[in-house]
Amino acid sequence: MTSVSPLIDSGAARVSIDDKAMLNARADVNQLLPLKYHWAWEKYLAGCSNSWMPTEVSMQADLALWKSPGGLTEDERAMLKRNLGFFATAESLVANNLVLAVYRRITNPECRQYLLRQAFEEAVHTHTFQYICESLGLVEGELFNMYREVPSITAKDAWALKYTQNLETGATDDQDFLRDLVAFYVVFEGMWFYTGFAQILSLGRRNKMVGIAEQYQYILRDESIHLNFGIDCINQIKIENPHLWTPEFQAEVRGMLVEACELEVAYARDTMPRGMLGLSAAQCEQYMHFITDRRAQQIGLAPIFGETGNPFPWMSEAMDLKKEKNFFETRVTEYQTGGSLDWD
Ligand SMILES: [Fe+2]
Ligand SMILES: [Fe+2]
Repeated sequence: MTSVSPLIDSGAARVSIDDKAMLNARADVNQLLPLKYHWAWEKYLAGCSNSWMPTEVSMQADLALWKSPGGLTEDERAMLKRNLGFFATAESLVANNLVLAVYRRITNPECRQYLLRQAFEEAVHTHTFQYICESLGLVEGELFNMYREVPSITAKDAWALKYTQNLETGATDDQDFLRDLVAFYVVFEGMWFYTGFAQILSLGRRNKMVGIAEQYQYILRDESIHLNFGIDCINQIKIENPHLWTPEFQAEVRGMLVEACELEVAYARDTMPRGMLGLSAAQCEQYMHFITDRRAQQIGLAPIFGETGNPFPWMSEAMDLKKEKNFFETRVTEYQTGGSLDWD
């Protein structure tokens, strides 16, 4: 058959599932069907069921508390600002890695469909910090520069940026990409968000900054799907490319998780030098060991710390908005229409 365009192969065979692949696929990336990875499509649907916007949450109570001289302790104020400062840019770092590196390398249309949904959710998360900043009248330059000016935040972000820098130019191999997936999905979204979530949800449990706490609850629900999509991607790439998952590479990934855990523990100490809200830096360290072990196991590695106890069991409850609709006794619109929250 004569092709009408040099850009489209009109005579090519129709897409076969066997030609679809996570990396370097032979199948046409512009054809969603037939689906191969149903887990990716299910996460796309679950993400769409969780739609929300930060502007739907009233900030009146937060503003009143923030303005009231004795509303929050100095420690709580300092923690909140650093927490918001970390997330304000972290969401953009994740979004940029997603669009400039991950989307480029993943050659499967149903995964790309999910990535497009995730990219929008990351935009909503960044919007959340703009909205909080505006609602409380925070100094935007202070908030959005914390990743350059607060050493414990700079250390985390600099660690992660190492893994995306080369990928954005395309000059990397598949193992570099797998490293990037670990750095961003498992570490950034799967470990480094969790101290921050625990801090803000603890405020919310004490009826403080309830608007922000509600927004964090929605972000946590989104992030739990992002994390699990990333885990599924990594495990599928391992199945299809066993030559990438060498003993040396596995040891390197374990080393990455240990480093990431240390950086997060340092961040926890920095954001709360003294205990507050029923949280201590020591408990956060135990929690981070627990989370690190869970992440290691999710990508097929043995636990690193052997922690058995989760010091914050209420975090799992907070993730289940359907069950805990009135977790903070604020208005929570029931957006969930069919997405599952079985992932953690
Ligand atoms: Fe996010
Ligand atoms: Fe995310």
